[in-house]
Amino acid sequence: MNASAAGFAGEMLSVGLNVVPFVWAASPAAAELEGVVMDWVGRLLGLPQRLLFSGGGGGVLQGSTCEAVVCTLAAARDRALARLGHAAIMKLVVYASDQTHVTFQKGARLVGIPPSNFRVVPTSAASGYGLAADAVRAAVDRDVARGLVPLYLCATVGTTGLGVVDPVRELGEEARRHGMWLHVDAAYAGSAAICPEFQGYLDGAELADSVSMNPHKWFLTNSDCCCLWVASPRALTSALSTDPEYLKNVGTDGTGNPAAIDYKDWQISLSRRFRAIKLWVVLRRYGAVGLRAHIRRHVAAAKWFERTVAADERFEVVAPRKFSLVCFRLRASFAGDADDVNRELLAAVNASGRAFMTHFVVDGKFVIRLAVGGAMAEMQHVMDVWELLQDKAEDVLQRYRL
Ligand SMILES: *Cc1c(COP(=O)(O)O)cnc(C)c1O
Ligand SMILES: *[C@@H]1O[C@H](CO)[C@@H](O)[C@H](O)[C@H]1NC(C)=O
Repeated sequence: MNASAAGFAGEMLSVGLNVVPFVWAASPAAAELEGVVMDWVGRLLGLPQRLLFSGGGGGVLQGSTCEAVVCTLAAARDRALARLGHAAIMKLVVYASDQTHVTFQKGARLVGIPPSNFRVVPTSAASGYGLAADAVRAAVDRDVARGLVPLYLCATVGTTGLGVVDPVRELGEEARRHGMWLHVDAAYAGSAAICPEFQGYLDGAELADSVSMNPHKWFLTNSDCCCLWVASPRALTSALSTDPEYLKNVGTDGTGNPAAIDYKDWQISLSRRFRAIKLWVVLRRYGAVGLRAHIRRHVAAAKWFERTVAADERFEVVAPRKFSLVCFRLRASFAGDADDVNRELLAAVNASGRAFMTHFVVDGKFVIRLAVGGAMAEMQHVMDVWELLQDKAEDVLQRYRL
């Protein structure tokens, strides 16, 4: 997660002004700024027109991916149950991979999907740990043959553990075959798509019903901030809208403004924060050029690190780097029990207080993750980390060789 001075200022404005744009009339400026900012960011990412207000879709700022996933799951569920009747909820099935963020599982539970209808499709080194469309197809066909109803497929652009990209277009085609809702979770890596060289990873997004990205991860925006775009705002609001008497006096009824959005109908809660001003300040302060430079600086440092690690025979890169996350480990041939050695190496690095890394386990292997993400992270910091890592690796290996 990264913050910035602009994000800090934007957050202060958001909190300090205390504008609560739950219905358009409560703050027309805030509601409309949100629409403008969502289209700006969507265009920066190269999202298809149909996910933007200007193309009949639209966007909303939520607090987290978890909320965005719950809202879209509810929309997909209600769209299906309107056709099938409520009792059919026991038949709805959702699909994700073993690399999908756990927030999806939680969201599915929250909207009443039976746990036995949650399909975790395994990934492997052969598919680069991406969710393979033919594996989804096989799972879907099995479910359909049993009389179940495929509801929702979650593709990830930049998985949490390894930064892997699922093939959005192929998964979208698979989803289309069965009228499934396709969500693209681009929480972290979506930010990179502001650079043309990364937009290819979102290829096929026109087949998605929704896309989400967290500016609070890699977009210099202080927490909390999650962009959610949907192709059909109506599907979302059908599931989430409320119209009680006590809101009628502040509602949009009678304003005659077709563009007026009551954002309370696009999210779980009624009250909401003025996050648009925060994102607006960040966009205005850095501009597309500044934001791209920020992404590219991190990617260049991660690329250097990956190359350097790969060139050192003691280490191996576990999954090819796509963004600013590098997953690597000491090789088994250099260590008795490679997992223990890598665990010790990570502990030594973290204990030094000079760098902080996390781990992941893939195919039963303990993997170290270097994420370049700090707002002020520079190439030099990553070079320093490499020095530190070599020192600690030498210490640890020495002990294991004895
Ligand atoms: C971080 C992350 C999430 C969770 O985001 P929250 O906003 O904390 O709910 C979900 N998916 C991916 C791919 C992530 O990287
Ligand atoms: C290093 O810190 C991270 C973050 O808390 C943690 O995930 C990891 O397990 C730590 N590793 C060790 C071995 O201390």
